[in-house]
Parts: sequence; structure tokens; C-alpha cells
Amino acid sequence: MKLAITGKGGVGKTTLTALMAQAYADMGRQVLAVDADPSPCLAGALGFPDELREELKPIAEMDALIEERTGAKPGTVGGFFTLNPRVDDIPERFSVLHRGVRLLEMGSVDLGGSGCICPESAMLKTLFTHLLFRDDDILLLDMYAGVEHLGRATVDFVDAMLVVVEPTRRSLGTAKQIRKLANDIGLLRLYLVGNKVRNEDEARFLENTTPDIPLIGYLPADMKVQEADRLGIPVYDHVESLKTSARQIIDEITRLTADEVIE
Ligand SMILES: Nc1ncnc2c1ncn2[C@@H]1O[C@H](COP(=O)(O)OP(=O)(O)OP(=O)(O)O)[C@@H](O)[C@H]1O
Ligand SMILES: [Mg+2]
Repeated sequence: MKLAITGKGGVGKTTLTALMAQAYADMGRQVLAVDADPSPCLAGALGFPDELREELKPIAEMDALIEERTGAKPGTVGGFFTLNPRVDDIPERFSVLHRGVRLLEMGSVDLGGSGCICPESAMLKTLFTHLLFRDDDILLLDMYAGVEHLGRATVDFVDAMLVVVEPTRRSLGTAKQIRKLANDIGLLRLYLVGNKVRNEDEARFLENTTPDIPLIGYLPADMKVQEADRLGIPVYDHVESLKTSARQIIDEITRLTADEVIE
């Protein structure tokens, strides 16, 4: 299962990605969590120790490797380079593993599409598209905020996109834009997740205002989320209510995707 986690800035994409990654890992699944944000923070949210974080180097910065595999220097636009470079060893070699979650950082690279076609984007796209996953392996992509990346068919290889929203019209507005752009690239399986929900009224608001994306769960607003950040420990370990909610969201995704297979 390959999932991209999207949404407006600050809605809780990284928090949700980290919670789900740890929950899936604790269920015994192989998890590859990818930080696609140019200013990465997923490692922190997952509680990766400093010595492991120091080992992490964003793929986009591995100039020698990209050149070796694609035949062109990163940053080159035009010219010839391999569009399907060898990538099978990348997760093993360039990710770090902690508590069952494998983490990879993309760095600042545009995944391409009709906009930029450069060696590094070809490499990453090949990695995520053709990486052989067993059916029950999990890829979670913590996307950068906003919608621009969607217009360029960057994540058309995912099985589903989770759109995180707060109970605000603004974040729902972004969700609507995301839905349109996702549908334009043929991605139809979108699920809405409400975050920072304080009460029933806010939950109802999301249910009634969803831009035609099925709402599959909520994460409650909890002051302990910021506390976890200050203490430098994962939300998963510190905030029971969010851990429980993340597990329910996973159950719901499992149920929905299983239904579709049966159909
Ligand atoms: N359920 C919650 N309750 C309280 N605070 C939360 C909750 N979820 C996230 N936050 C806080 O909201 C802020 C943004 O969360 P997070 O970094 O996960 O969002 P993001 O969508 O990844 O942001 P960005 O767009 O910058 O990548 C953080 O300070 C986080 O601690
Ligand atoms: Mg983030």
C-alpha cells in the first residue's frame, strides 16, 4: 500500500504520517516513510536518535549516485539520461531504521512530470513507482504543504491520498483544490482525515463541509502534542488519544481498500 499524505501547511501531515508509520510497524508491517518536505521533520516526529539522523542524507543530494545511475549530473535539464535507473538498493543503502520504521529523506527535488525533467526527479520517481513492495508493505509519503506538486503528476503512483484538514474553511478549501488536481491526474481514491478536532461541533462541521472526499477519521486536538515536541518524544508514545485514532484510521483504510478489491 502506497499512501501520500497531503494538505495545507501546518494541518498535521507530519504528525499523522509519523503516527501511522509507527502504528503499521507495530503491527509487524514493513514500513518505508519518506519525508518529501525540503525542510524535513519526520525524523524528529518519529523520535529517530541524533546519530541516525546524522547518517541520513537526502537522495536529491547524492550527486555521484544520481550521475552513476542516470548517466547525467543532477541539475541537468535536457540532454540524455536514463529514465529508469537502477533503484532497488536505494532504500537499504540510504535509509535509516528505527523501531521498525525505515526513513528516507528526499531533499529539495521536484518529482518532475511535465515541469522539470531532471536526472534526480527521474530517479526518485522510478524509485517510488517501481520499487517492488510486497502487498502488505507500506509506503508513506509525507508531502510538502499545498497543491503545486500534484499538478505535475508527481504522486500518481500512490494507491490513495490522505488529505489532512483542520476544522477550518481554509484547510477545506485546500482539500478541494487537492481533490481537483488529484482527479486530473487520475487519482480518485482520496480520504479526508480531520485533525485538531476539539469537540462534536467541529467534527460535524467537517462532516458537513467535506469537499466530496470521504471522511475516514479524526485526530483530536490535544495540548500534549506540543508537549511531546518540547520533550523530544514521539506523539505516538506520549499521546494515547492520537495513537488510538491513528490505529482506527488504519483499520478504516484497510476496510475500505479490502472492499474495493472484493467489488
Ligand atoms: N492533534 C493535534 N493537537 C494539537 N496540536 C497538533 C495536533 N496535530 C498537530 N499539531 C501541531 O500542529 C503543528 C503542525 O503539525 P505538523 O508539523 O504535523 O503539520 P504539517 O502539516 O506537517 O506542517 P507543514 O506543512 O509545515 O509540513 C505542530 O506544532 C504540531 O505539534
Ligand atoms: Mg510536515
